[in-house]
Amino acid sequence: MAESDRTRVSVLLADVSVGLELEFLALAREFNATLNRKGYGRDEVVRDEGVPLRFYTIRTWIDADAAERCHGDVELQRLTTRLFQIARVTQVINGAKRADPTRLLDDDRRAHIEPDRRTGFDRRVKNVGGLQGDRRNRRDRRLGPRRLRERPGDVDLVGAARRARQHADAAFSNFKVGAALETADGTVVTGCNIENATYGLTMCAERVAMFKALSEGHRAFTRIAIVADTEAPTPPCGACRQILWEFGGNLEIKLGNLTKEGATHRLRDLLPLPFDARLL
Ligand code: THU
Repeated sequence: MAESDRTRVSVLLADVSVGLELEFLALAREFNATLNRKGYGRDEVVRDEGVPLRFYTIRTWIDADAAERCHGDVELQRLTTRLFQIARVTQVINGAKRADPTRLLDDDRRAHIEPDRRTGFDRRVKNVGGLQGDRRNRRDRRLGPRRLRERPGDVDLVGAARRARQHADAAFSNFKVGAALETADGTVVTGCNIENATYGLTMCAERVAMFKALSEGHRAFTRIAIVADTEAPTPPCGACRQILWEFGGNLEIKLGNLTKEGATHRLRDLLPLPFDARLL
């Protein structure tokens, strides 16, 4: 097999925040140098001439194994987090790592199906790919157009947060919150608030979602939805803003309640002068 046949390519679209273009280009150079130094591959940046501050980063790994090792490399994960702090990133081509359907939780599976319900597109009969039964290691075999639509941006994230909220353990405040965090490969990881008799050990829904995701190996995130039963949308608390920023970067934050979707914010606007590892 020719050398080039084994390479893997992924393309990211990066919409860089105003004023951070130089930082983005420096980061891209650092990413490329690190890929080279570690023998994983290379990273090229192409400017979109039509859209200001939009760039394509084209990553080529020497083979699938290098791509996999690169994804697990802490140094590159840190660079990826910095990228997500200065740009809104969309994965255009993912040639390195497929989203693993076995990682999706039951909630998340429904989140993917939700948009299809509205359009009558979901042809599922009953409980296909559910938790019961083996079904080829729980792999969802419904392929075709519905699967092709499972891209970041298509998922009913607020719906997933509403369902996660039902699991909230809020015995002391009775204030139930649900969160749904979308990773760069389109996986949805949910969380709910979990309270504690000492009060102080209470954990918010957003941090539960983020820590779950990190513990499952996810390191790049695009959006989070937060749902509470309040007329005015509930924004994330200060502690959650910090954690979301450090691990998720400039996330899109969708707020909602049980019946409506509210405003969408960017985390940079909710945490304007953040403290993070760059300052250490
Ligand atoms: N809470 C969250 O889970 N997320 C937020 O964004 C705000 C607050 C939880 C913490 C606590 O269990 C309850 O809501 C009341 O503060």
